Amino acid sequence: MPQNNYSYTPNPAFYSPLTKEFIKEMKLKGNGAIGHLVEENKNNSGNLLFILENLGYLPTSFDSDWLFTLLNYNNEQVRLWVVKNIGKLQNENYIDILYQVAATDTSTAVKREAISSIGRMRSQKAKSVLFAMLTNEDPKIICQAIRGLLVFKGDEAVDLQLKGLVNHENEMVRTVIYKEYFAKQKEKTSILSHAETYPYLKDVVVNGDVRDVLKYVPDESIHLTFTSPPYYNARDYSIYPSYEAYLAFLEEVFLETYRVTKEGRFLIVNTSPVIVPRISRAHSSKRYPIPFDVHHFLVQMGWEFIDDIIWCKPEYSVKNRVGGFAQHRKPLAYKPNPVTEYLMVYRKQTEKLIDWNIHQYDSKIVEDSKVKDGYETTNVWQICPKSDKVHSAIFPVDLCKRVVEYYSFKGDLVFDPFGGSGTLGRTAKSLGRKFFLTEQEPKYVEYMKSFKTETSIFKEDNTKFLTLEQFKQTVK
Ligand SMILES: C[S@@+](CC[C@H](N)C(=O)[O-])C[C@H]1O[C@@H](n2cnc3c(N)ncnc32)[C@H](O)[C@@H]1O
Repeated sequence: MPQNNYSYTPNPAFYSPLTKEFIKEMKLKGNGAIGHLVEENKNNSGNLLFILENLGYLPTSFDSDWLFTLLNYNNEQVRLWVVKNIGKLQNENYIDILYQVAATDTSTAVKREAISSIGRMRSQKAKSVLFAMLTNEDPKIICQAIRGLLVFKGDEAVDLQLKGLVNHENEMVRTVIYKEYFAKQKEKTSILSHAETYPYLKDVVVNGDVRDVLKYVPDESIHLTFTSPPYYNARDYSIYPSYEAYLAFLEEVFLETYRVTKEGRFLIVNTSPVIVPRISRAHSSKRYPIPFDVHHFLVQMGWEFIDDIIWCKPEYSVKNRVGGFAQHRKPLAYKPNPVTEYLMVYRKQTEKLIDWNIHQYDSKIVEDSKVKDGYETTNVWQICPKSDKVHSAIFPVDLCKRVVEYYSFKGDLVFDPFGGSGTLGRTAKSLGRKFFLTEQEPKYVEYMKSFKTETSIFKEDNTKFLTLEQFKQTVK
């Protein structure tokens, strides 16, 4: 360790309030000034933390002896920052000390930081320590060690050790190793570039069962799907023989949706638990947790879970459930009135980062698609529901607007397999996107056509309303 030659002369500056500038000044002064400042503050963990957090870049000549005296400090945050600063010294003589910290500190955050600091040294000497950490019980420590070792990718011993982790029990470890060593460049299944799609899918509504229609839609042609599936048997537009049959139907639709979705793009499913009323007073009503049951198979088929957004309405819109309880107030019979629905956000599995998706677009499109100020920053979206004289469950335009703006680029193809009254299509079009909708009920397709005269969106006659047969003819 470097020698500390600092000899103390009382300095009124040490008693000035701590500021970033003051710390910088002390650091530049060298000759142990920071060490003394730390000594002055050693019983004040708040001040110590402030000093440690604001040390910034540390030159190799930095007099760092004092750092090591704080490795046993009782405040975990202080120890964490001590370790970070030791790492910044980039001195491979400290690898053993950091290794000791990783092996003995009681805080997992400090242990992880120690491994991360060792990794950042990019030193050959660190390899054996990082190898030892690959059997750690904490998957995050293993991932930190992998990160440090990947600097040496191509080194036979490193590759051998890392490849051996491809069947590791932790999914994060498996994913990193798979991506680094085993993921093959996916064969291109579409002749189009990522930003493009087929002209015969643009601004099209097909009247038919989505399962039949999707058979004619090519792989990787959709940029975004936002949909609200039928609510099991809670509304009158679709009837299923059982909840299992309903879930199997959705599974089929979302598996096909997966196929037609472009790499790394999004599916957003709006559902909520539904209640099927009791048949008589002698029976109870049944509540079906649709979002939770659907989630399970979506993830199984490869949709990566990204977010749960809560759509919060100002008041409940179904039959009052808390009425009886309001009278008797007896526990167990409490049933709140739901004012929320879920928007579950998923991404089609890919080894690529979101940045890759963004880079597939021309910079002008990216610029033009930027989300304006005033966007929602939380996952609770307060939006009034929309009632409609023809369709009993339509999307509010604001809900579609957010989804389209946040999850697609201008010119993208936005899909709703359960088109209903076509709200998503009209909104997508108004935002410079193209749409593809399927809807099995002729009366709702007729309703969509009626919007031609009411709004400017479907007014332009370039929207094509097709039967399944007609659609098949257009598919080249
Ligand atoms: C909850 S609504 C969607 C409403 C829509 N989001 C809107 O804004 O108007 C579900 C729709 O899916 C349709 N549907 C049900 N089963 C279908 C199927 N197999 N293929 C296509 N559409 C279907 C229903 O007729 C209904 O209009």
